[in-house]
Amino acid sequence: MNNFKNIPELIFKLGGTGSVSKLLKTNPSTISNWKKNNKIPKSYINKLDILLRERNLNICNEYEDNTSITPIKKKSKFSILVIISGGVSCYKVLELIRLYYKNDFDIEVVLTKSAQKFITPLIVTSLINKKCFTELFSSEEEENMNHINLARNKDLILVAPCTANFIAKITHGIADDLASNIILASNSKILLAPSMNPYMWGNKATQDNLKILKQRGFDLIFPNSGIMACGENGAGRLPEINEIFSFTTNYLLKKKGMCYIGNQSQLKILITAGPTQEKIDPIRYVSNNSSGKQGYALAEEFLKLGAHVTLISGPTNINKPNVNNFIEVLSAEEMLSQVENNIDCDIFISSAAVCDWKLIPYNLKDKKMSNNDKLKKNEDMFFKLETNPDIIKYVSKNKKRPTLVIGFAAETKNLIQNATKKLEEKQLDMIIANLIEKENAVFGEEYNKIFIIDKQCNIQESEKLTKHEIANLIISKTLKLHEEIYAKNNNRKNITI
Ligand SMILES: Cc1cc2nc3c(=O)[nH]c(=O)nc-3n(C[C@H](O)[C@H](O)[C@H](O)COP(=O)(O)O)c2cc1C
Repeated sequence: MNNFKNIPELIFKLGGTGSVSKLLKTNPSTISNWKKNNKIPKSYINKLDILLRERNLNICNEYEDNTSITPIKKKSKFSILVIISGGVSCYKVLELIRLYYKNDFDIEVVLTKSAQKFITPLIVTSLINKKCFTELFSSEEEENMNHINLARNKDLILVAPCTANFIAKITHGIADDLASNIILASNSKILLAPSMNPYMWGNKATQDNLKILKQRGFDLIFPNSGIMACGENGAGRLPEINEIFSFTTNYLLKKKGMCYIGNQSQLKILITAGPTQEKIDPIRYVSNNSSGKQGYALAEEFLKLGAHVTLISGPTNINKPNVNNFIEVLSAEEMLSQVENNIDCDIFISSAAVCDWKLIPYNLKDKKMSNNDKLKKNEDMFFKLETNPDIIKYVSKNKKRPTLVIGFAAETKNLIQNATKKLEEKQLDMIIANLIEKENAVFGEEYNKIFIIDKQCNIQESEKLTKHEIANLIISKTLKLHEEIYAKNNNRKNITI
């Protein structure tokens, strides 16, 4: 099978027959035959992919069938319509819409008449920077079809809080205001977050209505129990806003084929980020250019999904993210010790640029010198390189190994080869490879471009994106992989029972 259109041109681009035969460790005559027949054996296609990629040669045009390195696309925005009906917990939903807005959701909000007794369209507009819809009949011509337009092609329609009245109305197909018309005219998934007095919730009318709605495919976030605004105790409280946010985000990710089964708030993530600093003496140190931005972005994006995040960071100049557990360290040894303390997690991501070595001063008699005081420049001494602990290897080969161990590889050449070698040697589940070059400086930058390589050596290449967008790509791959392993383990359990 020939996957390349023009083999002679391809070989020319790679430096000619001699050079390609050396690179692929084959005879020059073999390469000449490929040129003559304009055909390459299937077993060499991946290797050629890698060579082209490493030389930054435009390979897209070379393929008839571009299968070995798949481009990964930036996550598209989620479109969500939030209908706020007239319950006492309306004010809490303002925080929810602010969260959607902050997280770049494409959000629209509709208020019922009763909801406007509790909150105003103006507050909504000031939170999402967009018009808030309230009227079925509008004096503005272009708004006269909002009951249809707003109903269409949303990733999700969320009704929160959803009143007993609204539940009753939509069960019976009543369409007497903008919100209920939208529900009737919708072609999107609808999620209800009911909230009401415990007696209203427990009333057979409400429960029967909900049964019917569930049969019709509506989804529900069940209310929590507790003391209500009216002072009564029981079921009917709106779930916490971060619960609704995690629930809906998970739902949307899953819908786009990007997610993980189960409750992500249970997922424990351990991330290392930033450089390490290896002390030479109390004043000097050896370090590297890592800014910590990619690792921090990963931590923040995981947190948004409701995961429990521990971030172990070397010294950086960027703002600390508001994670569950933020631990600052200096050296590789300190980082290792904190990783040991926090190894009990589901996913370990090593994005830190851990210094490979530290410098140990020796005198000319080859005796280790103390570095507790400042070393003087006229002292007769030299430095030996002492290898630092290999943190990711420690985690990967540990008895308490997390389900997934994911590494990063920053290389200036032979990117895929070196990253794949690291993946295999350290028994990682996935590696994120960065080619460090002029066009992709990575360190300290806001943007990044990555290759994601898995254990089966599938390679996916991203566009140049912000580090937060890159974090989302990594997270979606990670969660998919986690889901696969989780499902596999559960099947195994079923078989053994
Ligand atoms: C102070 C107050 C608080 C209310 N809270 C709730 C509530 O939490 N849940 C509910 O279902 N109804 C509640 N109601 C009743 C609804 O506002 C009422 O049923 C209204 O018709 C709902 O209209 P809508 O469904 O069109 O928004 C409350 C009423 C008042 C006066």
